[in-house]
Amino acid sequence: MEKLNIDGLGKVILVASGKGGVGKSTVAANLALSLSAQGKKTALLDADIFGPSVPVMFGLENTAAQIIEREGKQLIRPVNKFGIDILSIGFFVNGKDALIWRGPMASNTLTQLLETTDWQENEFLVIDLPPGTSDIQLTIIQKLHIAGSLLVTTPQNVALADVRKAANMFLKEDINVPVFGVIENMSYFVPASHPDEKYFLFGEGGGNAIAKELGIELLGQIPIVKDICDAGDLGKPEYLNQNEIVKSVFDKISLQIINQCN
Ligand SMILES: Nc1ncnc2c1ncn2[C@@H]1O[C@H](COP(=O)(O)OP(=O)(O)OP(=O)(O)O)[C@@H](O)[C@H]1O
Ligand SMILES: [Mg+2]
Repeated sequence: MEKLNIDGLGKVILVASGKGGVGKSTVAANLALSLSAQGKKTALLDADIFGPSVPVMFGLENTAAQIIEREGKQLIRPVNKFGIDILSIGFFVNGKDALIWRGPMASNTLTQLLETTDWQENEFLVIDLPPGTSDIQLTIIQKLHIAGSLLVTTPQNVALADVRKAANMFLKEDINVPVFGVIENMSYFVPASHPDEKYFLFGEGGGNAIAKELGIELLGQIPIVKDICDAGDLGKPEYLNQNEIVKSVFDKISLQIINQCN
């Protein structure tokens, strides 16, 4: 299938997982902000047509996208927040309506969104994918030039089994999307009253084991932190709150991505 050539899109980074609810959107949002903090012009695309969560995470749930006209063509302007350009289907329909899109319709909508947006010379575009290996993932993989992907998982076996499927899809010969590595989320819990104790609620070492098995790198481990969850609900991703753990995990990953994309 022929790839789309979209002006100003930048290097495309996919954030994917096999299983739902493991923290893709959280990783995509904080990673985009970290890339931007390294001085890279970055955009974030919420490709979760079925359940967009990026608007809430950025406090943009009541925001509509602007349409501009250039050379007789109508173009969508992404919404700029915290220094990054953001685009989500949530800016066009409310969350409830988004849930009823079906396969081909969802893919077509996403393609149209990508093609009719006024991307302003991004260096990076981080794409927050829906969970699994559905039409949306395939459309993006087939139609865009992808610089690389990140696989998010939690340490449990069920999540690892699903991440294996996602990795196999990316690494298939005819697809061949580079995988930068695995990010293990919700790795452990540290009680505020006992900061030197780590509780591995979902088991220990899962991310490391799957990375080894797939021959890819374990890029980072993110603990379970209430502030991360609260930040997502409050519309300001935790990266912006100078949380040392979150900052160091995401800065390490973004610097590595910048290096690998040079
Ligand atoms: N490390 C963490 N500590 C605490 N809460 C977290 C952490 N990571 C994610 N969460 C919370 O878990 C929930 C699910 O995270 P998120 O929406 O990022 O997952 P997802 O993989 O994008 O889900 P979906 O598959 O539905 O798109 C959110 O409420 C988020 O704030
Ligand atoms: Mg999500």
